[in-house]
Amino acid sequence: MSDEVGRPLDRVDGALKVTGRAPYAPETRVANAARALIVSSTVSAGRLADIDTREAERAPGVLAVLTHKNAPKLKGADSHSRGDRVLQVLQDDALVYNDQPIAVVVADTLEHAQRAGELVRPRYERRAVNVVMARESTAPVKPDKTARGPTDTDHGDFDAAWAAAAVRVDATYTTPAENHNPMEPHGTVAVWQGQDRVTVYDSTQGVFRVRARIAELFDLKPENVRVISLFIGGGFGCKGSPWSHVALAVMAAQVVGRPVRLTLTRQQMFSLVGHRPATRQHLMLGAERHGKLLAVRHDVESATSRFDQFVEPSASQTRMLYACPNIRTSHRLRRLDIPTPTFMRAPGEASGTFALESAMDELAYAAAVDPLELRLRNYAETDPDTGRPFSSKSLRQCYQAGAQRFGWSRRKSQVGAMRDGRLLVGWGMATATYPAGQSEAKATVRLRADGTAVVQTGSQDIGTGTYTILGQVAADALGLPVDRVRVEIGDTKLPEAPLSAGSRTASSVSPAVKGAAEAARAAAIALAVADRRSPLYGLASGQIAVAGGQLRGPGGGHQETYAAVLSRARKDEVVGQFDSKEKPDRKDYAIHSFGAQFAEVTVDPDLGQVRVRRFVGAFATGKVLNSKTGRSQLMGGIVWGIGMALLERTERDARTGRVVTRDLADYHVPVNLDVPPIEIVMIDEADAHVNDVGAKGMGEIGNTGSHAAIANAVYHATGRRIRDLPITPDKLLL
Ligand code: MOS
Repeated sequence: MSDEVGRPLDRVDGALKVTGRAPYAPETRVANAARALIVSSTVSAGRLADIDTREAERAPGVLAVLTHKNAPKLKGADSHSRGDRVLQVLQDDALVYNDQPIAVVVADTLEHAQRAGELVRPRYERRAVNVVMARESTAPVKPDKTARGPTDTDHGDFDAAWAAAAVRVDATYTTPAENHNPMEPHGTVAVWQGQDRVTVYDSTQGVFRVRARIAELFDLKPENVRVISLFIGGGFGCKGSPWSHVALAVMAAQVVGRPVRLTLTRQQMFSLVGHRPATRQHLMLGAERHGKLLAVRHDVESATSRFDQFVEPSASQTRMLYACPNIRTSHRLRRLDIPTPTFMRAPGEASGTFALESAMDELAYAAAVDPLELRLRNYAETDPDTGRPFSSKSLRQCYQAGAQRFGWSRRKSQVGAMRDGRLLVGWGMATATYPAGQSEAKATVRLRADGTAVVQTGSQDIGTGTYTILGQVAADALGLPVDRVRVEIGDTKLPEAPLSAGSRTASSVSPAVKGAAEAARAAAIALAVADRRSPLYGLASGQIAVAGGQLRGPGGGHQETYAAVLSRARKDEVVGQFDSKEKPDRKDYAIHSFGAQFAEVTVDPDLGQVRVRRFVGAFATGKVLNSKTGRSQLMGGIVWGIGMALLERTERDARTGRVVTRDLADYHVPVNLDVPPIEIVMIDEADAHVNDVGAKGMGEIGNTGSHAAIANAVYHATGRRIRDLPITPDKLLL
């Protein structure tokens, strides 16, 4: 029964958000809240020889000035379990990146905190810094593992196959550091209740992750830490880890004995909450004369900090995307004097598909094969890495539907052959892919005597539509109209759910909600069939169907509402609970989403300016739970692809290590005029293996390959192969 699932319902939180009534965590109203402000370093490496806070402490309104000299000691700030990051929370005098917290000023107002912050006088002992990932300046480090399995893989005999190849591509691609720029910067409100309990309102993708980290740092019982995050103004991975400022807010509130509100400035977003690391990727593709792959090699280097280890797994998709018996991949790190990188939308695949899909385009020209035809010649029917079958794979349909909508067959194959007046026109395409994971999630569904239902699960809505889709899933399982279902998420008081990251929320939390709703439904049915006064009395539970809030016996002759069943039984509610675990047969399959990206660009031959004029993306991501929020996710990924392809780059001053693109005037993200009409095609796909609702997740795949399609279109227009993102005009004019 699927009345609500799949429908393009508006976001249930949409009106609240656009009318300013949605309480975002950092703006939560709490009585008597003080303001905390992070004072950060202006040097990138060395130590704090001293920090003079006397003047700051005397400034108006100041409640406390915390530094490493007086800050409470926390436990485990220098560890990184569970994917947490090493923190800089005033525990010592070490300086490990620019804009690192060196003091926290707490005052009665933000203005007073800002004034006092200017009066904090650090004295630095500087060390020479290196923030440039040049080959000669750093030695590669082999990490222990990546978030996607081993650092290295080696199937077949790459060297022999490469030697035998008739056509070869051997090229190096580079992608810059990029920073997450959600509309809402991070922020935290910390409220202690006595000495051993704290409530934390935090803009986070994972309330339980924050709870665990705060409990560890402050030596509290997890159940004594409550984390609330009801509405989040975008996440993209930066809000997936509890960063230093969260702990500093809790610490500041503890010290001053008042609630504390701490928000990051946009500038601090460029250093305190991670970034996508720069990569250098060496691709070698060897093929038969007509493009059938014989040898694939992808060696990735990515930047990380000196004190922590984050690996950008950019070769992941190269292990599984194309059929080839000889595939070798590796990941290495280069340590720099920078903050630690972190997950950023499609971590790994975002930068990795740029390299792989650019190289495939290069191979298409080298073998004189149409780029789409080249992908079809190398279509993987099983996963080349594990040998497993795909749980579902509708990539052929994506290629076909996308190409048809785009009009790919009308493409002139020669470079520079398509023009519009003085503008050069280029058409490019690329494959999109992202793994479909599933994590354990718990949910409770309460079926109320008034005929409504409440869904409870400690998940998050980072703007993706979680509130909306969970209501749809519960509505169908209960046989209730969706407007009678209310969804509660974003609170550690609710059943535990995973981080909203890795495109896993729909695939992990919906099965839990479905299971809980089915349990609640079963409980209501059990009441009805056991009750002599019910028209359904004596029927077998399996004979009862539910729809429109009605329980119906066979033939439709006997029926009554949930409300009638519960009120006669004098119950306020019946409750269903479910703990959804990874489906056991998942390990027999390779489980990935797929898509095909098609871009049309124009290039101004005199100015080198690239405009994306048209974009079509076709995706198969399992069951689509809401075609409107899903389409929005996929489009958002493509918009980000325009940013990666043409605009985004975090620039550091090589002498000081300081980020110079620290705001949205200098760090360019696509604005409306950069974004052309984007057409999204969603291929309906049934997948019985992925999880009990069949959803694979749509959060990240839209980004993958989109930048490569644009870069490939630029080549088609100009004959210029830009292997270094972003494709700024200077690179085309040189
Ligand atoms: Mo996403 S980068 O896993 O929040």
